[in-house]
Amino acid sequence: GAFGAASLGLPLGTNPVGAVQTGDASQWTRTDANKITLTDETTAPVINDDSAVISDDYWIWDTWPLRHRDGSIVKINGWQIVFSLTASKDLVPGARHNEAMIRYFYSRNGHDWQEGGEAFENPLGHHQWAGSAMYDENEDQIYHFYTATSPEPEFRQRLALGKGATLETNSQSVELTGEQEHVIMAEADGDLYQTLEQSREQGIVYAFRDPWYFQHPETGEDLIVFEGNTPTGGDSPDDPESYNGNVGVMQATNEELTEWELLPPNLEAIEVNQQLERPHYVFNNGRWYLFVLSHEFTFAPGLSGPDALYGFVSDSLYGDYEPLNESGLVIANPEAAPFQAYSWLAMPQGDNILVESFENFRGLDDTSQGEISLDEVGSLPAEEQKELFGGTLAPSLKVQLEGTETRIVSELNDGHFLPSGGSDGGGNGSNR
Ligand code: FRU
Repeated sequence: GAFGAASLGLPLGTNPVGAVQTGDASQWTRTDANKITLTDETTAPVINDDSAVISDDYWIWDTWPLRHRDGSIVKINGWQIVFSLTASKDLVPGARHNEAMIRYFYSRNGHDWQEGGEAFENPLGHHQWAGSAMYDENEDQIYHFYTATSPEPEFRQRLALGKGATLETNSQSVELTGEQEHVIMAEADGDLYQTLEQSREQGIVYAFRDPWYFQHPETGEDLIVFEGNTPTGGDSPDDPESYNGNVGVMQATNEELTEWELLPPNLEAIEVNQQLERPHYVFNNGRWYLFVLSHEFTFAPGLSGPDALYGFVSDSLYGDYEPLNESGLVIANPEAAPFQAYSWLAMPQGDNILVESFENFRGLDDTSQGEISLDEVGSLPAEEQKELFGGTLAPSLKVQLEGTETRIVSELNDGHFLPSGGSDGGGNGSNR
């Protein structure tokens, strides 16, 4: 690698040659978060209810496309493939997390998605949470990075890899085939990344999940960012230090991508927010745009912010991340439908981004007007809970990127599209 210990004059062993140079984590500060305001540029339009249901049988939420090593979206014989967390529609929405299973869907036009099947035969974990999927066309195999999660109420999370699957396509369908092998890539170490045990006193939620694979755009090194927590010793939900979300980083130490080394987080939200979910990058003209999701309920005491896509920009992996639009806010749900969508994923499209997400809870609004709050949903009769939940892909949003500023340009009409730049066979390099 270009940043080996020798070239930096560091004592050998502290930063082995081939390892990326690490640095201090940037901070999402209370001052930044205090600037969160919903503007025309950062507020999504209210979703119309008639958008297409992708599956009759399954709730669909967190979704990620199959990408090439270089990050561009795979298109094979005209098909795009996405993987989603899914669970039976027999379940009430709140019960889905504990039964999440990754399934795949494929489409030629980004609108009509057909159901493929299960992504894995014998995955690790009681259930599986979000991840990312990379197709290596030379090896003709998929590397599927995911979260192996243990059952409720524990929700222990480990970062896992399933590899070996490939795709068979014809004019009618796409099929995942091939023997898969599953390995654990990483577990929380208690030092850089808080363990479940360390988080118990905090009394809120805990994260070590959502591995998102990418190649270092300059050196080609294999890296993953994920959602973690920094051990801070926070000991109650009232303690600001209990809000300790970070973006974790790890680097592959073998070519098979089965062995990884945990590196320090590169972004922290200590005393700001407990969850920096599904971190992912968009690279644009030497800029590293780092996106995360977060919830209203995970902001630290004294701060408030919407369920939204938040973003930061830097010139390198461990550079100085600046919050986009000063506060970090990129796409907020509108005040009239504050929980309408979640789990946004930004993908490069030309010089801008296209952002997909799923439809979450609609109709939860102003409790002062007699409407119910998110907390009350779980106590409604099952059918009413299901009525309120989308559980399908939301219309994608186009967002313009301009340095440290962003602007929502449009909602795609009746579409859940991914960027269309993908090419058959080799990667097209997207917009690096
Ligand atoms: C975001 C998320 C992910 C996790 C999944 C669990 O929507 O919290 O971090 O993988 O949902 O359902």
